[in-house]
Amino acid sequence: MPNSTSSTSSTKSLRRAGSEMERSDSITSQPRFVGRRRSLIEDARKEREAAEAATEQTEQIVFEEDDGKALLNLFFTLRSSKSPALSRTLKVFETFEAKLHHLESRLSRKLKEVYWFPKKIAELDRCHHLVTKFDPDLDQDHPGFRDPEYRKRRKMIGDIAFKYKHGEAIPRVDYIQEEVETWREVYTTLRDLYTTHACNEYLEALRLLEKHCGYSPNNIPQLEDISCFLKEHTGFQLRPVAGLLSARDFLASLAFRVFQCTQYIRHASSPMHSPEPDCVHELLGHVPMLANKSFAQFSQNIGLASLGASEDDIEKLSTLYWFTVEFGLCKQGDTLKAYGAGLLSSYGELVHALSEETEKREFDPETVAVQPYQDQTYQPVYFVSGSFSDAKDKLRMYAMGIKRPFSVRFDPYTSSMEVLDNPVKIREGLESLKDDLKVLTDALHLLD
Ligand SMILES: [Fe+2]
Repeated sequence: MPNSTSSTSSTKSLRRAGSEMERSDSITSQPRFVGRRRSLIEDARKEREAAEAATEQTEQIVFEEDDGKALLNLFFTLRSSKSPALSRTLKVFETFEAKLHHLESRLSRKLKEVYWFPKKIAELDRCHHLVTKFDPDLDQDHPGFRDPEYRKRRKMIGDIAFKYKHGEAIPRVDYIQEEVETWREVYTTLRDLYTTHACNEYLEALRLLEKHCGYSPNNIPQLEDISCFLKEHTGFQLRPVAGLLSARDFLASLAFRVFQCTQYIRHASSPMHSPEPDCVHELLGHVPMLANKSFAQFSQNIGLASLGASEDDIEKLSTLYWFTVEFGLCKQGDTLKAYGAGLLSSYGELVHALSEETEKREFDPETVAVQPYQDQTYQPVYFVSGSFSDAKDKLRMYAMGIKRPFSVRFDPYTSSMEVLDNPVKIREGLESLKDDLKVLTDALHLLD
């Protein structure tokens, strides 16, 4: 979601789901790229531009001429609300012997520096701002636009998400035969490729999901079952969402180890391509990696860094998310493997990403955060992490550079966010850390 995103394409819409390619006659030939229609990056960029436009309006200079004298109407904002700031500013007018005709103070719009964010997991019920850009009811190019039955199914499944409240079991969807066939086609095509292209963590989790969660070519797994499985393994849980969320809301959910997950499936006419996130992308791309502890922590850390962050930082974090969680590669032994969901749910891009044709660079958050992305063809550049633990450390360093007047700490016992903005809270945090350290040190001693 870098500034540079705007220069990459005239079609400014990517989808969060990462890319998927339309399958050509032979799946091994170069598939036709049909473009992504929705993405977290694009939405974050728009939010940032809107915020900048609002800010710019608070500072302006208007010149007028009156009988040979220059009249200057000046609107400005003081960086500090303390009184010397105003007297020092007025001194400037005195120095230039300017005559003040009128002086007026107004409430600064810049005062709203810290954005609201959820402090309790139940407040994620308020993080449901959908970004509607590509919808079978609204967009003629959507594969389901001329299929009233499909639109009816989408509405029915979407309503589950609209009505959902934190703490409830996720209602099951009775998928119809046509939907299961779409799932089967993607599942069987990708399953063979995973052995050679997916990272070990993904393969291990997929094996468990097949054993315990109903993952199979003939069954679309249920979100509720997966959510329980993830909760047991990494504390992550799913909640149903009806489409693409705003970047801020989506990232805030990750901070609570909640993954917002679509439940509907792509249209049967294009099983190997979806221009928007759907359950194939979420369940085959995202879910297995969320069962890995290091990766889960990495994902949560992106979310934690986003809470209360500026629009600019949200855009950068969304870009980081894009090139890691969606399109990341990692090194295992001497070979490169995929861990990004956009790759693991797309036959075409998975093959492409690990081919000789693409450039691979070492993952470095500072450069990745402003890396242009590609929305009209496959990514030309992919970023490689040595390990999730290494990526996590680098991300932590990067997050420390994000300017916020407070730090946050997730309390897993209450699933709430502690805002560390005073010494008492920080001391309490250190106390509980000391307890944990003691347990771990004692455990080490027992092994000696
Ligand atoms: Fe995704």
